[in-house]
Amino acid sequence: MSEAVDPSTTAAWADLARLAAAYEPDLRSALTASWVDRQTLDAADLRVDLSKNLLDDEVGAALLRLADEVDLPARREAMFAGEHINVTEDRAVLHTALRLPRSASLTVDGQDVVTDVHEVLDRAFAFAERVRSGDWTGVTGRRIETVVNIGIGGSDLGPVMAYEALAPYRQDGLTCRFISNIDPTDAGQTLTGLDPETTLFIVSSKTFGTLETLTNARLCKAWLLDRLPADADPGEAVARHFVAVSTALDKVADFGIDTDNAFGFWDWVGGRYSMDSAIGLSLVIAIGPDRFAELLAGFHAMDEHFRTAPAEANVPLRMGLLNVWYVNFLGAHTHAVLPYAQLLHRFPAYLQQLTMESNGKGVRWDGEAVGYDTGEVFWGEPGTNGQHAFYQLIHQGTRLVPADFIAFARPAYALQDGDADVHELLLSNFFAQTKALAFGKTADEVRAEGVAEELVSARTFPGNRPTTSIMAPELTPSVLGQLIALYEHITFVEGAVWGVDSFDQWGVELGKQLAQELRPAVSGDADVLARQDPSTQSLIGYFQEHRD
Ligand code: F6P
Repeated sequence: MSEAVDPSTTAAWADLARLAAAYEPDLRSALTASWVDRQTLDAADLRVDLSKNLLDDEVGAALLRLADEVDLPARREAMFAGEHINVTEDRAVLHTALRLPRSASLTVDGQDVVTDVHEVLDRAFAFAERVRSGDWTGVTGRRIETVVNIGIGGSDLGPVMAYEALAPYRQDGLTCRFISNIDPTDAGQTLTGLDPETTLFIVSSKTFGTLETLTNARLCKAWLLDRLPADADPGEAVARHFVAVSTALDKVADFGIDTDNAFGFWDWVGGRYSMDSAIGLSLVIAIGPDRFAELLAGFHAMDEHFRTAPAEANVPLRMGLLNVWYVNFLGAHTHAVLPYAQLLHRFPAYLQQLTMESNGKGVRWDGEAVGYDTGEVFWGEPGTNGQHAFYQLIHQGTRLVPADFIAFARPAYALQDGDADVHELLLSNFFAQTKALAFGKTADEVRAEGVAEELVSARTFPGNRPTTSIMAPELTPSVLGQLIALYEHITFVEGAVWGVDSFDQWGVELGKQLAQELRPAVSGDADVLARQDPSTQSLIGYFQEHRD
């Protein structure tokens, strides 16, 4: 394995530690017009205002030096070129190849990946068109009205997030539903009310070995065969109502799905980076190939920005480095993402897998333990709902919570409340919150409002709470692609500084393995139960006592 640079041994890290020790944020005086001008950046269609961060020129310069000292530009190039930077799995990391235009060329491990990508895209697009037009029917000849995606993690979160985000672009008469959880409630509720004759299942699983997905796929197969008319041929029924997306086409065939109806991808696409591969098939069916192509073009535009924009103007680089500053030098443990767009209500959940499965690591890629924090907790909810729930802590609590605010100039649904444009009300809140967080309200300002002295401290806002504002004209497919790619690259930047392999996920394995081992005990095997620790025995005992 190649050696990873320990960032904490670099000169820039020492500079940042020194700067942090002396840093006294004062956003009220820092936000001059020229500062705002210099900290306002454009990346593709996104306008990004970094000015309300806890940052000055010296810190900004030291962060860029840190990127150089850990060889981040070389690692970025290695990723785009298809080198095996996922060292613990010895794989290339090429989600950026999923959105290369047909005219591009990239050969990796002897394989022309652009040709491969477009071959699968063409097949997925053609299939989606058949479903959308009614040419692809169920076994009884009726057109498909509901598509159910069965998948979990990266095979669910991306498709469901984008399906919600792009609701205005969906085809009428076609609905997607999503089953992910092994909790039988999920499949039970999702299938309720569906007509088997008009339902198409997409089994989405990179490995085609995931317990939740295979269990749910079997449940759905049984549900379908039980409910179709008795004269429907079971083999034909599965062929017409089940398709698959996977890198493991042999396992797809073993499951009984015709591989003519399967769409592949490659081990160089991580699950959490796969929504723009055939894993997005449900979305392609919902919004159509042309809109999906726009989404891919948006991803690609952000890739190009990340690869080519100069460091000071490079938005993913700057935002990723700021996150390192907050985590490692100013003590932040979490990062909020707050879309002022209801359509992005699943975006924070999607980002949780992207960021936390990627950078929640305690060793560097050469196996050495890190001696610094990594992987902050990402979380969030759409504004203004969050304002009435957890913003209190961000405004007046004792913790530093850097926050990204996202908004669009044009609404997806324009509504008037009498004379008031409701989107203006939403955006007034968006602008007000970052202002309040940055500037706060001093005790003197509170007193000037006539507040009784004993209430002044409770009603004072300290300010200097950092935010980044991200705006775009409208939430189009392209803009969504840009936003997702922005966070993919922010995640890359943080991981590259910390020296962790952002593309493996060994931390999910132990729980899966123990669940298999415990299974007999849960089913009543006393010998296996007796070998468990006392707490696990007691909990399984409670379950046994109360299950009937
Ligand atoms: O549990 C971890 C994980 O491997 C994720 O990384 C992945 O997105 C998810 O499980 C689902 O995996 P698959 O697509 O192979 O079913």
